Amino acid sequence: MRPKDIQIEYSALSQKISAYSVRWASKCLAKQGVTNVAEVGCGRLRNLSVLREYFETVDLVETNNQIKKIRDLVPESNAVNLLSNEEFEKQNTKYDAIFLISVLHTLPYKIDRAKILQVCESNLNNGGILVLDVPQSENYYNRRRSTSRKFNDVWLIRHGDRYSFYKSYFRAELNNFVRDSTTLELVIPTFYSKHLISLWRCP
Ligand SMILES: C[S@@+](CC[C@H](N)C(=O)[O-])C[C@H]1O[C@@H](n2cnc3c(N)ncnc32)[C@H](O)[C@@H]1O
Repeated sequence: MRPKDIQIEYSALSQKISAYSVRWASKCLAKQGVTNVAEVGCGRLRNLSVLREYFETVDLVETNNQIKKIRDLVPESNAVNLLSNEEFEKQNTKYDAIFLISVLHTLPYKIDRAKILQVCESNLNNGGILVLDVPQSENYYNRRRSTSRKFNDVWLIRHGDRYSFYKSYFRAELNNFVRDSTTLELVIPTFYSKHLISLWRCP
């Protein structure tokens, strides 16, 4: 496979409904006094209305390719900012909580999965929370997987002449991966409708 065929943005979900993990965690975190949050890998903004309902400021982080596609969808408001992943990595803002929803499993290289977790950790306040949601064995992927090949440890999902990726995680592997890549501490692990959901605290 040539690197140009690897286009992670092809994994952006088309669902319009917000993720259960975002609705559930937002309610809990707002009660704990969380006010400023970021969603890393915000896709096509399906979670934004929930995040705006619960928090004062919401930063949205995406790749440069995806930013071109969603720029016009972002509301004009001082409470919402759109940042590239490079800007997010370099900036000094710290967040009470960061949402990483259905992103980790779409990255083809382990090193990039570790990096995105590490960048999230370094952008959290002490005591800040990472909300991690990774689908496990979803029907959408299972249907395509039957005709798929493997690339490293991920399944290749074909879209015409391009591919996206699906890393199927089990709970223990995912938890060990987060622990090996960061110093984040697991607070709450849960499962909902084929999604592994966990809250991790920055020490
Ligand atoms: C499957 S979509 C999920 C989108 C959204 N979180 C949702 O729940 O609908 C994965 C998204 O992660 C984005 N992404 C991949 N690598 C990224 C990175 N390093 N930084 C920010 N976003 C990234 C992709 O562009 C894509 O939009």
